Amino acid sequence: MTDALTRPAEATRIPAIPSRAAGTSGFEGTDAPGIVFELEDVAVHYGSTPAVEGVTMDIPARRITALIGPSGCGKSTLIRCLNRMNDLVDGARVSGRLTYRGIDLHDPRVDPVEVRRRIGMVFQKPNPFPKSVYDNIAFGPRVNGTRRNLDDIVEKALTDAALWDEVKDKLHASAFALSGGQQQRLCIARCLAVDPEVILMDEPCSALDPIATSRIEDLMADLRDRYTIVIVTHNMQQAARVSDYTAFITTDVVDGGSRVGHLVEFDRTEKLFTNPSDPRTEGYITGRFG
Ligand SMILES: Nc1ncnc2c1ncn2[C@@H]1O[C@H](COP(=O)(O)OP(=O)(O)O)[C@@H](O)[C@H]1O
Ligand SMILES: [Mg+2]
Repeated sequence: MTDALTRPAEATRIPAIPSRAAGTSGFEGTDAPGIVFELEDVAVHYGSTPAVEGVTMDIPARRITALIGPSGCGKSTLIRCLNRMNDLVDGARVSGRLTYRGIDLHDPRVDPVEVRRRIGMVFQKPNPFPKSVYDNIAFGPRVNGTRRNLDDIVEKALTDAALWDEVKDKLHASAFALSGGQQQRLCIARCLAVDPEVILMDEPCSALDPIATSRIEDLMADLRDRYTIVIVTHNMQQAARVSDYTAFITTDVVDGGSRVGHLVEFDRTEKLFTNPSDPRTEGYITGRFG
């Protein structure tokens, strides 16, 4: 496999992504090893209607960044920009500048399939394939034509997703036989199996009970040093517990009365929750949001 994000024939025209271990600096005011995503004036329209606009922020490497805000403010819309998932949403149009490791994600030479391998995604409702536990994990590596031992890949991914001990005796059972929380960890393992740099999670716990939720939160803490994680959550306590940085998005009424999502504040989680700079953030986190 080429390390470039572009289609193989074009690979020389866009630089390869620096390795995760390279540890370039750059995110001012953070201790993070570099920036993974830079967003500059990013907007998403559905048809002619803007859903979210004017988003400028840098997402640091190997840290957990939470996107919070009221329902409909554009959290899912925004997180889907980060791995070009909006390409697959009818009518969605992304504008502004959005780079991943310095590469314009919308450059026509960038291969969206490779983007989604490097930048995996986990959804609200666990969505295992209708296959065995083993084949769910082996699917991506097989498609990528891995030459590594599949059994090893499966065991490592399930171990890293804190699921191995629970499923090692039922690797060939259907993934649907697992509990909801196990299915969600399976979906995380499925991401890990293709060796991504980033994991996007859109409300990964909202269909889970509190015990399954705390397992996923523990897992995120385990993965934090090795992966860049962006999580959408409507649960402020969860954002405060798990994330290093938090972006608060809310809807403002614009000309004509429609509501459009805007990034209000992006800061270290501790700062945003204890000493927010914007009264709208304070209103939201103290529950006074109207
Ligand atoms: N596929 C879509 N087509 C049209 N409008 C959409 C679509 N998805 C989301 N929207 C609209 O975009 C806005 C933001 O939605 P969303 O990103 O789902 O918000 P959140 O995840 O914060 O609840 C909402 O007004 C929603 O109705
Ligand atoms: Mg959403």
